[in-house]
Amino acid sequence: MINLKGRSLVSITDYNKEEILRILDIAEEFEVNQRQNILNGHVIGSLFFEPSTRTRLSFESAVQYLGGSIIGFASPDVSSVTKGESLKDTILTVSNYSDLIVMRNPLDGSARYASEVSPVPILNAGDGANQHPTQCLLDLYSIRKTQGSLDNIHIAMVGDLKYGRTVHSLVQALSLFGATFHFVSPDSLKMPSSVKTWVKNANLEYYQYNDFMEVMPIADILYMTRIQGERFPDPLEYEKVKNAYILENSMLENTKDNLKVLHPLPRVNEITEDVDDNPKAYYFQQARNGVFVRQALIAAILGLK
Ligand code: CP
Repeated sequence: MINLKGRSLVSITDYNKEEILRILDIAEEFEVNQRQNILNGHVIGSLFFEPSTRTRLSFESAVQYLGGSIIGFASPDVSSVTKGESLKDTILTVSNYSDLIVMRNPLDGSARYASEVSPVPILNAGDGANQHPTQCLLDLYSIRKTQGSLDNIHIAMVGDLKYGRTVHSLVQALSLFGATFHFVSPDSLKMPSSVKTWVKNANLEYYQYNDFMEVMPIADILYMTRIQGERFPDPLEYEKVKNAYILENSMLENTKDNLKVLHPLPRVNEITEDVDDNPKAYYFQQARNGVFVRQALIAAILGLK
């Protein structure tokens, strides 16, 4: 019996394979029947200490399609954090007003800390360069939907594998499904050792590249990422790598028929707009899938599904 009621989601590793698949199955139900009034009378807290478009608005959309209410802030500038209030006090306060808290925070580990002090479940909407588990679930949903299965795919992850939190979560999740990983990055932005160790411990293979044309004929999923300029300690280092990988439409010519291009978005320069009309481009549908997955998470954690 899978029961996610009352469970926080801080790291994708908080949920096992069956629990992940259960969320994806509920999300499929919401894709077919999105408007269900099951959250009537429930309040969701939404605390964004860092900018967001997709994550924040898709959570808001998810709550409203389900008939619930959402309160919170899109920037700490309008909260009492500016007066020096601590994260603990903020969480304890907002937990008085809501059944579940969605939080994005620039500090690695802040979501885990929030879950330890909070009397209501915490959904991590991104903590620094660490984890982005709800993005991971919508990535998995998108992969399963486009490939028919999550099993044994070849995934190429391209760009900022050091600071890009979405790829860290996704490697851990896909390690449950026998993936082969192709990591493409500048030397200064390689996948962290802790994540590569995770792959090895799952008895899976990863390969590292600088040139991303090498992975084009191999990949089932091409997962592009933005170079995370805001996380670089030295702006000059960012300048050296900011345009390291730019996907153009012509580069998709000799790729597998089933290849899909994913990107957590926002993009800056890493995918040219001529790719958008290619049937292999899937990143805007991927963002749409975020609403179904977030509906599923909220419903499951509140014991409504
Ligand atoms: N994918 C993602 O997290 O986008 P936002 O930063 O716009 O929420």
